[in-house]
Amino acid sequence: MSKVALITGITGQDGSYLADLLLKRGYTVWGMKRRSSSFNTERIDALFANDRQEEDPRFHYFYGDLTDSNNIIKYVQEIQPDEIYNLAAMSHVKVSFDTPEYTGNVDGLGTLRMLEAVRILGLTEKTRIYQASTSELYGKVQEIPQSETTPFYPRSPYGVAKLYAYWMTVNYREAYNMFACNGILFNHESPVRGETFVTRKITRAIANISLGFQSVLSLGNLDAKRDWGHAKDYVEAMYLMLQQDEPEDFVIATGKTTSIRDFVRMAFSEVGIDIAFSGKGVEEIGQIDAIDRAKFEAATGIEANHLSIGQELVKVDPFYFRPTEVELLIGDPTKAKEKLGWVAKHTLPELISEMVACDVERVRKNHYLKTGGFAILNNVEDVI
Ligand code: NAP
Ligand code: GDD
Repeated sequence: MSKVALITGITGQDGSYLADLLLKRGYTVWGMKRRSSSFNTERIDALFANDRQEEDPRFHYFYGDLTDSNNIIKYVQEIQPDEIYNLAAMSHVKVSFDTPEYTGNVDGLGTLRMLEAVRILGLTEKTRIYQASTSELYGKVQEIPQSETTPFYPRSPYGVAKLYAYWMTVNYREAYNMFACNGILFNHESPVRGETFVTRKITRAIANISLGFQSVLSLGNLDAKRDWGHAKDYVEAMYLMLQQDEPEDFVIATGKTTSIRDFVRMAFSEVGIDIAFSGKGVEEIGQIDAIDRAKFEAATGIEANHLSIGQELVKVDPFYFRPTEVELLIGDPTKAKEKLGWVAKHTLPELISEMVACDVERVRKNHYLKTGGFAILNNVEDVI
C-alpha cells in the first residue's frame, strides 16, 4: 500500500516541488487548492499530465481553504492521510502588514484547524504533521547564526502568526503525543518562486531588461541579508523530518548569508552585465559598469545594442521598505545534518544561474508567442 500525503499550499512553490518528490517516492498525493477566478495550477499542471498516463492516478486535489474548519475536517476524514504537510499560508511578509488579521487567520489559526482536525478525528496515532515554520520567527535576531535554540523575536504580522503556529505544533505534540514537527526553513527559492519575492523579482527584471521590455529594477532595502537555498533541497528536508522515529523541530539553512545588493550583482553577471552601486539610502543607484557582450549574447540570444556603460538599471523605491525589517538571517543547519543527514546540495551561484536562465527563456517564449519571431528583439527601441 502506498502512503497517502495531504499537502496544503499545493499550488505554491514548495507544494509543487514536494508533490513531485512524494509522487516519485510512490505516495498518493492529495492537494488542497483554493478556488481562484483565474488558473492557479501552473506549477503542478505537469504533474497532472504525467499522472493521466497512469491507470491508477496518484495525484488528486480538492477545493479548500485553511480558514474553513468544516472543509478541513471533511477532507482529512475522507483522505485519512499518513502525512500532512501544512504549507498553505499568506506567505508575503510585506503584504502581512496590510492584511494582519487575515494573515493571523490563515497562518496562525489555519495551523490550529489542521491540528484539531487530526485530533478530533482520532488520527493522532496515524497521521504525522509537518508545519511550515520559518526563519522569520527569529526576526530581530538574538543570536548569530540562528539554531533550534535561538530565542524568537518576530518582526511582522506574518512572523507573529507563524510563531503562534509554531507553538501550537509543539503544544499538540506534547499534549496529545502527536507526531508533529516544525521545519524552521530559511529562505528558499527556485525558478517557480513567487514573482514578488525579491530573488524572483530580480531575475525576472534581468530577463526583461536584457530583452528590452523593462528599463529599471526598483527595490527596497538593499542591505538586508538572507540565507538562500534551493526549494528542491528544502522539500527533501520536509520529507525526511516525517520519516524520523521521533518528532522534532529542525532548522533548514545553508549557513551562508548574502545581501540583496550582492544578489543583484551576481544575477546581472549571469548575462554579462557588471553593476556598480553608488549613493546612499534612497539615493542609491546601480549602473552598468561593464558589459561582456559575448556573454550577454550567449545568455540572451540577442546583441546588447540597447545597453550602454553608465546606464542606470537599479534604483531604490521606499515603497518596498517594511515598517519593521529583518536585517540579517543566517541559519545553523548542524542538527539537520547530524539527525536527518540533510545538507543543501545547490549553491547560491547555481540557484541564481538557473533562475536567470529560466526567466530569460520564459520572456523569450512569451515574446515569441506574441510576435511569431525574435527578430524584432534586435530593434529594442520598438518594444521598450
Ligand atoms: P507560496 O509559493 O506563497 O505558496 C503558498 C501556498 O498557500 C499557495 O498554494 C497558496 O494558494 C496557498 N494558500 C494561501 N492562502 C491560503 C488559504 N487561505 N487556504 C489555502 N491555501 C492557501 O509559498 P512557498 O514559498 O511555497 O512556502 C510554503 C510555506 O512555507 C508557506 O507556509 C511559507 O510561509 C513557508 N515558508 C516559506 C519559505 C520560503 O523561503 N519559500 C521559508 C520559510 C517558510 P494560491 O496559489 O491560491 O495563492
Ligand atoms: N519582496 C521584496 N521586494 N523584498 C525586497 C525588495 C523588493 O522589492 N527590496 C528589498 N527587499 C528585501 C526585503 O525587505 C527583505 O529584507 C528581503 O529583501 C527578502 O524579502 P522577500 O524575498 O520578500 O522574502 P522574506 O525574507 O521577507 O520572506 C520570505 O522568506 C521567509 C523565510 O525567511 C518568504 O518566503 C516568507 O514566507 C518566509 O517565511
